[in-house]
Amino acid sequence: MDILNAFREYQEAATAAIEGASTAEELEQVRIEFLGQKKGKLRELQGLVGKASKEEKPLVGKAFNEARTNVTARLEQRISGLSQHSQSSTSDFDPTLPGQLPPLGAIHPVTRTIANFRELMGRFGFRVVEGPEIEDERHNFDALNIPEDHPARDPLDNFYIATAAKTAGGPILLRSQTSTVQIRTMEAAKPPVRIVSLGRVYRPDTMDATHSCMFHQMEGLMVDTNVTMAQLKTLLSLFARSFLGPDVEIRFRPSFFPFTEPSVEVDMKWGDSWMEVGGAGMVDPNVFRAVGYDPDKVSGFAFGLGIERFCMKHYEVDDIRRFYENDVRFLKQFA
Ligand code: PHE
Repeated sequence: MDILNAFREYQEAATAAIEGASTAEELEQVRIEFLGQKKGKLRELQGLVGKASKEEKPLVGKAFNEARTNVTARLEQRISGLSQHSQSSTSDFDPTLPGQLPPLGAIHPVTRTIANFRELMGRFGFRVVEGPEIEDERHNFDALNIPEDHPARDPLDNFYIATAAKTAGGPILLRSQTSTVQIRTMEAAKPPVRIVSLGRVYRPDTMDATHSCMFHQMEGLMVDTNVTMAQLKTLLSLFARSFLGPDVEIRFRPSFFPFTEPSVEVDMKWGDSWMEVGGAGMVDPNVFRAVGYDPDKVSGFAFGLGIERFCMKHYEVDDIRRFYENDVRFLKQFA
């Protein structure tokens, strides 16, 4: 039968075209040519089926369906084979290569110094306590024996917080020293006391290589019976040497603070000159009275050290402003 030959030829031509196609676009062209519904070869064959005689119809119809199904199946096979192949050949993903490491940050040198200080002072038996950065005048001044008319209370030398933020208790300010925590600690606990507190303090200083309007202090306080100045000096010398090495030179210079008597300024050798790194002294009896301790029964020492200055010396940083500029080129060096 001619018509059956036509189906066979159709199938052979279609198969050859399918095998010959090498891209998805070429296969799509083949599909339109051989399986397209509107025109194309399949339409022509369908017309032949319609013209078949009544006896031939079942046979011809079956042959037509077979040819169409075969061609469709072969085409789909090629299409899915092609897309799988193209996926594996065009992707450059190689599961055997090492992964890309996300960039790791570094701990800020000041944060690192704070952690070091806590660890060192812990070994000397000092507990770490925290205090608020927003303070009232009692903790920043009054209880520290700093009278109303003392120049340290000058609004131009402190960050007082605007009237709207005032509490019923009076003016509030950003603490200018961590000595506030001495008071808070003694208010909350009976002697003996042996604490350090590390945190930010704020002063409207003009920024330069060694000054910032915000910096960090480590406050220390030891209260017991028979605490001596010799213990204070020994502790600070040992501390400085533990942090900066055995060659560091520390000196104590007579000075004045309202809350210590006697008082000293603590200096550190910096090249050919001396750099002030903190203050210290024996706790003034008025401070003990302000917190309800009996100055005839207890004695104590206190100190406040500038953390940035130790950090600068340790990491050989020549300008305090580097710590606050967030320049990754600087910070990366501490990774
Ligand atoms: N609070 C003083 C300052 O900030 C330092 C200090 C602390 C001095 C404790 C004596 C005792 O300058």
